[in-house]
Amino acid sequence: MWNKLFRDSRPPGGDAGNPLYNDIDRSRLPVHTAIIMDGNGRWAEGRGLLRTAGHTAGVDALKQILKVAIDLELPALTVYAFSTENWKRPHTEVDFLMRLFVDYLSKEIDEMDEDNVKLRFLGRVDELSPALKDLAKTAVDRMADNTGVCFNVAMNYGGKDEILRATKEIARRVQAGELLPEDVDETLFESCLDTDGLPPVDFVIRTSGDMRLSNYLLWQAAYAEFWFTDTNWPDFTPARFVEALKAFGKRKRRFGGLKNK
Ligand code: IPE
Ligand code: IPE
Ligand code: MG
Repeated sequence: MWNKLFRDSRPPGGDAGNPLYNDIDRSRLPVHTAIIMDGNGRWAEGRGLLRTAGHTAGVDALKQILKVAIDLELPALTVYAFSTENWKRPHTEVDFLMRLFVDYLSKEIDEMDEDNVKLRFLGRVDELSPALKDLAKTAVDRMADNTGVCFNVAMNYGGKDEILRATKEIARRVQAGELLPEDVDETLFESCLDTDGLPPVDFVIRTSGDMRLSNYLLWQAAYAEFWFTDTNWPDFTPARFVEALKAFGKRKRRFGGLKNK
């Protein structure tokens, strides 16, 4: 239903005629793609560069991947930018990343808005620096009425943390007498997650060879298809993304039943 709702309500994508997209079966594209953009450090180290150079290159890759999502009118794209565990990294790397996020957002707001992107953040945004928090709020407010790709940036995000926050919110409401324990169902629980209103994740891509979730979208990816590649994130080109999307189109999804979807 999500697929249909989105596709019916929007004009055709800006670069839909790009030959890169020629053999894609558009009726079999994922509704909600979630990417673990991993391998920036390894990309840089392999070139004798500082890890930070890998993060800068990673931002360029992200810009191109978002363009593909816009061209193909993917309903939702969520990217893992910084996990609740990434604070364990050296201060210098964390500071660099936070400045990079400010830089990325301030430079990209106009173009994202022109591209009708609807930006949102997942995670504990409140704990970020005042500059980043303000910029995130400005950007989200400005794009609030956009109707194109839902572009979600998971920043200071952890799936376990998100589930715990939702659980505490529900416990508070029960304690306040606003809810009964038997009212707690999947719909209610999902309305308390950072992804409230977004469709379930149906496709998870992780670059750079590791095959794990690293605390990403634990609830939302319950029935997702997975696609792993050894390519490091800065080398993840639109062509690689298209390859992944085509692979998704060939997956047989059964959701516990017997019929393929
Ligand atoms: C992903 O690249 C970016 C973030 C986690 C912020 P990494 O920095 O994890 O790169 P590797 O995994 O060390 O190569
Ligand atoms: C996951 O990558 C987080 C992001 C891409 C932001 P990590 O590099 O932090 O994951 P681990 O530590 O290898 O599991
Ligand atoms: Mg990593």
